[in-house]
Amino acid sequence: MPKDLIERLQRELSSHFGQGEKTFLAVAPGRVNLIGEHTDYNDGFVLPMAIDRHVFLAFRPRSNAEVRVVALDLGEQAQAELDAADFEAMPAFLKYIAGPGKLLQKYQKPIRGFEAVVSSTIPIGGGLSSSAALLVTAVLAFRQINHLSASKAELAHLCAQSERHFSGAEVGIMDPFTSLHGRAGCALLLDCRSLEYHHIPLPSDQLTILVADTRVRRQLSATAYNDRRRACERASASIAKIYPQVRALRDVDEAMLADVRQQMDEQTYRRARHVVSENARTLQAVQALHEPDISRFGELVNASHQSLRDDYEVSCEELDIMVEAAGHGPGCIGARMMGGGFGGCVLVLVRPGNAQAMIEHLQQEYKNRTAIEPNIFTANAADGATVEPLAQKLA
Ligand code: GLA
Repeated sequence: MPKDLIERLQRELSSHFGQGEKTFLAVAPGRVNLIGEHTDYNDGFVLPMAIDRHVFLAFRPRSNAEVRVVALDLGEQAQAELDAADFEAMPAFLKYIAGPGKLLQKYQKPIRGFEAVVSSTIPIGGGLSSSAALLVTAVLAFRQINHLSASKAELAHLCAQSERHFSGAEVGIMDPFTSLHGRAGCALLLDCRSLEYHHIPLPSDQLTILVADTRVRRQLSATAYNDRRRACERASASIAKIYPQVRALRDVDEAMLADVRQQMDEQTYRRARHVVSENARTLQAVQALHEPDISRFGELVNASHQSLRDDYEVSCEELDIMVEAAGHGPGCIGARMMGGGFGGCVLVLVRPGNAQAMIEHLQQEYKNRTAIEPNIFTANAADGATVEPLAQKLA
């Protein structure tokens, strides 16, 4: 835990809101997804890990349904009455903190709010689930203050529901689930239909994980995301006409897809082919980690990028440049775009002894080719979110 940051959050809390009831700290990690992209909303498999970049929310209960937040990194302060109708007009950070409380009111009333100071070490909007981590800290705060018995899986659903509501993108469960269930040193194999999961140890002596932020952010991604989702639903509905057991693309294999190719247009077929092949790759990647066969793991990661770029069409020029640069960088094991797409971060897997040389290579080559300064850092697999009394922590 970064002691200085936590002390600062505590000081800011007192200076903005005065002395109050017992203070708590909710901490939620961002995530990288090793493989299994755009499979979560198809009831499929994902292999993400929580990372050592976090949202920190220091909070104290209020006696009413008000949420007051100071966003330290933005230098902004805002407040919301949970009963208020107009969530749309709020600053984004407040929606993501007060929003889950609003949804909770459907299940339980009254819901008590809180006063809080928030800060984050996750790059915002870069595909590392900064918004899911923010939502996770908020739901943990609401659960703590209102003594709710919700399980972590239920909290993850609440976060995904809030994200859908406030971002307009009909996201799946992967991001908040990972933030809540991560384990240090491990990736998380999640079955997004049953929510059964396994922690898969990562061979850190053979593999260093880098995140290469292209610093490209595009707004059109919610529409494109929802378009992809619709294409998957169309594909699975046409496959179900021939194979009635199919409820989602998760239930389809490559042979079935080949059988029904004539039933759908070329684009829909390619969207489905990405999901079907990506599900298979994800399970093969788990096998490769078990062995461990790191080169095989890298090949699967590279194949994932090609499929996202060519079949699913959610990459962009800058992501492709970063992936290509990584591919001929020192000690590269594999590289691919991550998250929803159209910008954000690239996952780069590198032999541990080459990590620094790879960072320097990417910084130079990406900047030469795009004139953009990238942000590249090492990501370590971290534990999932926590909430604890703060005063005891500092004592
Ligand atoms: C975003 C969504 C996730 C998932 C990924 C793509 O991160 O929030 O639910 O669909 O895109 O794999």
